[in-house]
Amino acid sequence: MSTIQRIDQLKQELDQYLPLPPEAVKNLREVYKIEWTYHSNAIEGNTLSLVETKVVLEEGLTIGGKQLREQFEALNHAEAIDYIEEQIGKEVPIDESLIKNIHSLIMKNIDDANAGAYRSINMRISGSEHQPPHFLQVQQEMKELLRWYEKNRKELHPVDLAALFHFKFVYIHPFSDGNGRAARLLMNLIPMEFGYPPAIVKADKDQRLKYYQTLEMAASKIIVSLL
Ligand SMILES: Nc1ncnc2c1ncn2[C@@H]1O[C@H](COP(=O)(O)OP(=O)(O)OP(=O)(O)O)[C@@H](O)[C@H]1O
Ligand SMILES: [Mg+2]
Repeated sequence: MSTIQRIDQLKQELDQYLPLPPEAVKNLREVYKIEWTYHSNAIEGNTLSLVETKVVLEEGLTIGGKQLREQFEALNHAEAIDYIEEQIGKEVPIDESLIKNIHSLIMKNIDDANAGAYRSINMRISGSEHQPPHFLQVQQEMKELLRWYEKNRKELHPVDLAALFHFKFVYIHPFSDGNGRAARLLMNLIPMEFGYPPAIVKADKDQRLKYYQTLEMAASKIIVSLL
């Protein structure tokens, strides 16, 4: 059985429990909001633990000794999840303003000058051989990505569409910071629109390594030429 078939089998099982009682929906949302925020931020080096993330999301800026930036990153990511959830069911397409809104939320109070703005410098991704496109090409590459998405959004399986969108986005690396977090938020908007729960890339060493290695493999010319 392919991975996609297995995912759909699990979704069918999950769908049998629908509609869930409102208290269960509320509880699940709280659980995944904390986990998604913790893991996505930890992948990028945020040192808040799962329980510290929970305290920040529930109490605000409170944790003594932890950098203010890290606490803003947690609060901002949770707000970005709220924004993603608000889009669900509205059939809003992914477009440039949606992408920039997500990025603005992530970078708020951290780097307001660059929040919601494509990069104006050339970048390397640390630990990777992939050289993202020249900054002057970013606008055009993003337009092409959105055209590709429009063309394929009714053709591809939502999980394939989400995975490819995520890869193409981080390959372009449109922002000077916050690319990974923005990509993992956008990646989940697609399947969530179709009733799938969010996929959380875990920050533990094994999963993080597999995540980076898979992106590195995909970034090699051979695979890109197949897309
Ligand atoms: N070989 C690769 N090809 C394409 N993208 C990659 C590759 N390796 C890592 N990435 C993506 O780039 C992200 C890390 O890039 P970088 O260190 O520049 O982080 P960032 O742009 O600061 O974003 P943020 O801090 O939110 O993730 C990873 O989370 C991953 O999504
Ligand atoms: Mg970063």
